[in-house]
Amino acid sequence: MTLSIRPIDPVSRPFFGGEASGIDITQPLTSEQASEIERGMDEFGVMVFHDQHFTDEAQMTFSRNFGELELATNNLRDSKEQRLGAHIADISNLDANNNVLARENRRRLFSLGTRLWHSDSSFKVVPAKYSLLSARIIPSKGGNTEFADMRAAYDALDEETKGQCEGLVCEHSQLFSRAQIGFGDFTDEERRQFAPVHQRLIRRHPSTGRKSLYLASHAGMIVGWPIPEARAFLRDLNEYATQRQFVYSHQWKQFDLVVWDNQATMHRSRPFDATQVRDMHRTTVTGSRSTMAEAV
Ligand code: OGA
Ligand code: MN
Repeated sequence: MTLSIRPIDPVSRPFFGGEASGIDITQPLTSEQASEIERGMDEFGVMVFHDQHFTDEAQMTFSRNFGELELATNNLRDSKEQRLGAHIADISNLDANNNVLARENRRRLFSLGTRLWHSDSSFKVVPAKYSLLSARIIPSKGGNTEFADMRAAYDALDEETKGQCEGLVCEHSQLFSRAQIGFGDFTDEERRQFAPVHQRLIRRHPSTGRKSLYLASHAGMIVGWPIPEARAFLRDLNEYATQRQFVYSHQWKQFDLVVWDNQATMHRSRPFDATQVRDMHRTTVTGSRSTMAEAV
């Protein structure tokens, strides 16, 4: 069998969210297969692969077809007890002994920031290209991940708002996103580490050339704007860009691998019963440059 990709929802979102079949991506790919997947990503922004029984090693090998991996240093001070290797982000509610984290656990509370719409690593100078999330253990219900198409949202903006957004630069920091959920338990060292970085509000995709809105809960300022005006403007844009017509909600099956293009989408996690295990492993492919270096 060979790789085929079909739109997940051909009626309402024919160009966003593709389901792949006919390929075992836990095995090494040919360069032709890797290019086909990259073309699928350019078209659909999000791709779902079912029944991929990944080890961390195989997930890293698959991910490296698309670029270099980000280091997954789990930014918080009590994370010396890393469960997973340096290139695997631990998107679980488990501690180093595989016990479910206590309600008040700091890493758990920090991770609740993923419930806000975001694009991975927009707070880094060179932000993420693809994120690849592998569902190892899922709760019995809930815990969907939702994806919003920032290309479609940009295209559908009225000309006046496009004009307002053109040329704007935002400051992104995890301090801003966590402040939105009332998490401020940072050390001075972490505050320094999370210093804001600049990203364009409208970006152009390095491969397709399409424009999109580059939004994230990490964006808390617009350069040259008063803060309340920037926050109000960004809030409106986020509300607009995450309307249901732009959103695909992924209901996980165990051993799904979902790949999303952070350069063209936002995503967020949805709630689930916190006493159940949800164990997801993420690899992240780094982008090629800051959006500040992109011609728009
Ligand atoms: C991520 C993320 C959402 C989820 O892995 O980057 O935001 O549903 N995950 O776990
Ligand atoms: Mn994320």
